Amino acid sequence: MAMLRAEQVSFSYQGKHETVHAVKDFNYDFKPGSFYAIVGKSGSGKTTLLSLLAGLELPTQGQVAFQGDTTTQMDCDLFRRDHAAVIYQNFNLFPQLTAQENVMYPLRLQKVDRQEAAQRAQEALAQVGLSPTQWCRYPSHLSGGEQQRVAIARTLAIRCEIILADEPTGNLDEENTKSITDLLLRLAHEQDRCVIVVTHDRSIAARADAVLELRDGRLLQQEQAHEE
Ligand SMILES: Nc1ncnc2c1ncn2[C@@H]1O[C@H](COP(=O)(O)OP(=O)(O)OP(=O)(O)O)[C@@H](O)[C@H]1O
Ligand SMILES: [Mg+2]
Repeated sequence: MAMLRAEQVSFSYQGKHETVHAVKDFNYDFKPGSFYAIVGKSGSGKTTLLSLLAGLELPTQGQVAFQGDTTTQMDCDLFRRDHAAVIYQNFNLFPQLTAQENVMYPLRLQKVDRQEAAQRAQEALAQVGLSPTQWCRYPSHLSGGEQQRVAIARTLAIRCEIILADEPTGNLDEENTKSITDLLLRLAHEQDRCVIVVTHDRSIAARADAVLELRDGRLLQQEQAHEE
């Protein structure tokens, strides 16, 4: 069964003088346990599509549905808080919070008590390969790869089913790109999460279960890559 279903989704940015049709008639069923790569040239609509899947934008036409509820009907803040985490190229951590506090933050919003939140945060940080000495560091005292691990740990701790990432390795070197990709693949294949990654990196796309290529807002072709 689809975890996230896009049905005839179109989206236009309405400017003063022009309308940009950024996503056109996009149909796709995203399933749990799979790693999807969204590729395409700059301006092809990848970030817009990810925003539609995350409920950050609402379709101009068509619908995006999570377990039968459309983003137009649901509370999208709650959807992102509990079910669909978004990871960005620039990590988006709170600079004034330590790694562990960053991971605990959304749990506290979910009203998880402090002790349990701390425990879940530590488990998640350990899972992404960060050591206890790194848990209490501020983001500015962590490398880019480590900061991205913290951002991924945050999605683990809230146990969301869907991870949406926009160029998550865009600021990382080759080695960190590989280990973050390994981690995201494991989350899909071993923990049955639905992982959707926008990427320019062909080495990431080559490892995906499915590659969705956008051209000028349209889904062009769907290559089936090898199964991990
Ligand atoms: N806020 C906005 N207002 C108007 N047009 C926009 C806005 N954001 C994006 N666009 C346009 O929508 C189209 C798709 O943009 P989008 O950011 O989704 O592309 P992208 O594939 O993510 O590109 P990149 O690889 O450069 O990040 C582009 O033509 C872009 O100029
Ligand atoms: Mg983009």
